[in-house]
Amino acid sequence: MARKPIVAGNWKMNNTNSEAVALTEAIKKSEFSFKGVEVVLCPPFTALKDVGALLAGSSIRLGAQNMHWEKSGAFTGEISAGMLRELFCHYVIIGHSERRQYFCETDETVNKKVLAAIAANLHPIVCVGETLEQRKANETKNVIEKQVRGAFKNVSKEAFMKVVIAYEPVWAIGTGVNATPEQAQEVHAFIRALIGSIYDEKTAQAVRIQYGGSVKPANAKAIFSQPDVDGGLIGGASLEADSFIAIISAAQ
Ligand code: PGA
Repeated sequence: MARKPIVAGNWKMNNTNSEAVALTEAIKKSEFSFKGVEVVLCPPFTALKDVGALLAGSSIRLGAQNMHWEKSGAFTGEISAGMLRELFCHYVIIGHSERRQYFCETDETVNKKVLAAIAANLHPIVCVGETLEQRKANETKNVIEKQVRGAFKNVSKEAFMKVVIAYEPVWAIGTGVNATPEQAQEVHAFIRALIGSIYDEKTAQAVRIQYGGSVKPANAKAIFSQPDVDGGLIGGASLEADSFIAIISAAQ
């Protein structure tokens, strides 16, 4: 089954609203050349509204970087799925390793967020990945399996159709050390097989699995050309229009 590659820019805590608008305008100029790739921009919450307005009528989709699982209430500083939907978010990144590392997110909270996102008709981009210590200790597959099973607990097959998975080895994020294409392929194939055992083969063949971690124009093509890699989740290299656009063309 042909899966459409998806390239998402995770801007993290970068770009004020006006900077985000300028970067979006620069990326939009090349939109005509993005054929065959689904492109997603994930600005900080404060820029969602203006970036979303610029993307109205465009094929580029809007995504958020996080959300809370409750619909509303006394959760100071948090943002709900409904708030994101009203700003025309299509995607939401869930369980990024920085959220797990610095903000105490667990497989359990990731699961709550995944369920809440899907219930609100958002498409979660669910991040999984091992640390360097875990890889060295030969724990990669165990860690990934636990994260995947945890994230999709009680997620029906029908609901899972909305999901994108991002494999992001923690040791590759923002370090300049990317996984080799072979390392990425090995884990992506493992995740796809696991999805096959949780759901079924058809679902496994349909789900898109992005690679993330130090993707740059120079290494994107080799990584994206692996059979189970369906595009990328891009941090640093998505903050500059030229490099992000070059990565999108590598996904073609
Ligand atoms: P990076 O980040 O491309 O800067 O390594 C990727 C990510 O964290 O999504």
